[in-house]
Amino acid sequence: MLLYPHILNALLVAGLVVYVSLRALPRHGNIPPLRRPALWLLLALIAQLLLGVSAYVVRVVQGINESQPTSSLVAVTVAHLAVGALILALAMILTIQGYRHTGDPATVISPRRRREVATA
Ligand code: HEM
Repeated sequence: MLLYPHILNALLVAGLVVYVSLRALPRHGNIPPLRRPALWLLLALIAQLLLGVSAYVVRVVQGINESQPTSSLVAVTVAHLAVGALILALAMILTIQGYRHTGDPATVISPRRRREVATA
């Protein structure tokens, strides 16, 4: 894996996550299915950036002369991968909930529920 493009992409992703979360929280913070993933996304991003920097330090700075991966390298990189997967899952949940709660009802809910919404 090329590390410097990865770090550049990570900064781009971080910017997008902050943008989406900070739009969702003030505008739709009163809707728990939107507030929860937006909040967790921000927290997971902070954890991911810290784990990324740690992964960089243990692999590139400390681990440069190691003949095999150290246990701290394994722990940090596994955690970094797992939180990356969590960020993907949270982004999907926020997207789905975003369509459910703020999208045009005509395109996202069944005709039966659409009638309920229209008459509510
Ligand atoms: C939104 C932020 C980030 C996400 C979603 C993310 C995701 C990932 C993923 C999925 C991998 C595994 C890739 C593979 O094995 O091919 C990885 C590896 C890595 N990332 Fe990140 N990353 C992020 C931020 C960062 C940052 C900011 C740094 C460093 C400053 C960083 C440093 C690394 C390093 C050193 C590895 C290699 C770990 C290893 O296999 O030893 N990451 N990252």
